[in-house]
Amino acid sequence: MDFYTELMYALREWQSRRSDVKSILFERKKTLPERDFPQFHQNFKGVIENYTELEAVLKKYSKLPIEKYQTNHKLYMLIAIYGLLYLRKADYAITSQIVELIKQTTPGLSGMSNGILRSIGRDKDKLQAAPLVDSIHPELHDALAADYGERDVAHYLELARDKAPIDLLCLKDRDTVQADLASRGFESEQLPYARFGLRLTGQIQGLFEDEAFHRGDIYVQSQMSQVVGSLIEQTEGKFVLDLAAAPGGKSFTMWRHDPTRQYTLNDVSKAKADRIQQNLRRLRLEQLRVTIFDATRLVGRWIGSFDVVVIDAPCSGSGILIKQAEAKLERTAKQIRELMDRQSAMLDHAAKYVKKQGFLIYSTCSILMGENEERIEQFLHRHPNFRLQAIELDPVLLDGPYLKTTPFDGQFDGFFAGILHRVD
Ligand SMILES: C[S@@+](CC[C@H](N)C(=O)[O-])C[C@H]1O[C@@H](n2cnc3c(N)ncnc32)[C@H](O)[C@@H]1O
Repeated sequence: MDFYTELMYALREWQSRRSDVKSILFERKKTLPERDFPQFHQNFKGVIENYTELEAVLKKYSKLPIEKYQTNHKLYMLIAIYGLLYLRKADYAITSQIVELIKQTTPGLSGMSNGILRSIGRDKDKLQAAPLVDSIHPELHDALAADYGERDVAHYLELARDKAPIDLLCLKDRDTVQADLASRGFESEQLPYARFGLRLTGQIQGLFEDEAFHRGDIYVQSQMSQVVGSLIEQTEGKFVLDLAAAPGGKSFTMWRHDPTRQYTLNDVSKAKADRIQQNLRRLRLEQLRVTIFDATRLVGRWIGSFDVVVIDAPCSGSGILIKQAEAKLERTAKQIRELMDRQSAMLDHAAKYVKKQGFLIYSTCSILMGENEERIEQFLHRHPNFRLQAIELDPVLLDGPYLKTTPFDGQFDGFFAGILHRVD
């Protein structure tokens, strides 16, 4: 199958929600020729991240209403528009390749498609300079604006167009890993707020083929995720349950901060557990246990068994729109409400797994109060045997007793965490 057809089918798969972005890329990495994968990755994520914007451009230039487009035809057009606006590919090359594919699948529409793409190519500079329109779901926009105001949200959306930096957790001594990576051209700086973290400052290509990666010296994880993992140091006790653990990042950081504890990594499905196992093998951390349970249901044998339970909750991802293509498009108000219900259900069950005097760490990569402070306040109402424990970190990372960063000035991702201490 040729490159753009493969890309179109991958986008169909994403759209039909049969699979998520990570799984689709994971599968394609196994089947595509190695040299094609980076370009595939870039195009696939690019179209998803800019989907609404690309659709708006197509709408503007097409006489045929876009609701009337067949799915394959529309996706080919969006792939081409993405190439024209975002990639440094010659306009005629991308247009002619895509038009040829359209000719094969919907022959009557190739002339019209050719005309549209040529006009977009001509207006490229004007279109590229246009402000970001409709780049997130309007209901997510409204929810964010209700918490933070229109101005901050508008600025955030501008920033979210940028590429996210690549941060690494070092599983071995940070200075040694940094020097080793630099010896093969991977320059980095040490992350100021993550003790074992590096941020790549130069070349990234080839990192996943590099010996340090294969040896398990590094794991890609953002600075703020690492800060959340470091909170394990503000708790006590041997047995730790990471209730929503896949692909395992927070647990790897927790282990790095305190390898003396015994970690259990849980997630909801076998596919998720397999991803954790795969990482554990690469990082040589096979002693960590993996389980598969639905955390919205009670697991009898866990009751009263853990000193620390961590819920890195499934959330809207509203704090990391720079990375979360799906969050931008798919988060409706109804979905956010459902997520909040799921977060509360997880918290209520997790409370039962915590031993007396134990701890519950709740975190999200969202900045919506409804998924954060509100979830914790309501939990405390239902569970008077828990108290909020003030988190101790650099004050720039804090908001009262919570860890809370916002993405508005571009310095941090938006993250949230609270520590609950069982006091009975
Ligand atoms: C924010 S991600 C966790 C990221 C992970 N802690 C890390 O740092 O790599 C949320 C996770 O919750 C899991 N999840 C969603 N619903 C769940 C459920 N009902 N039970 C257990 N895990 C669930 C998802 O599969 C996803 O892996």
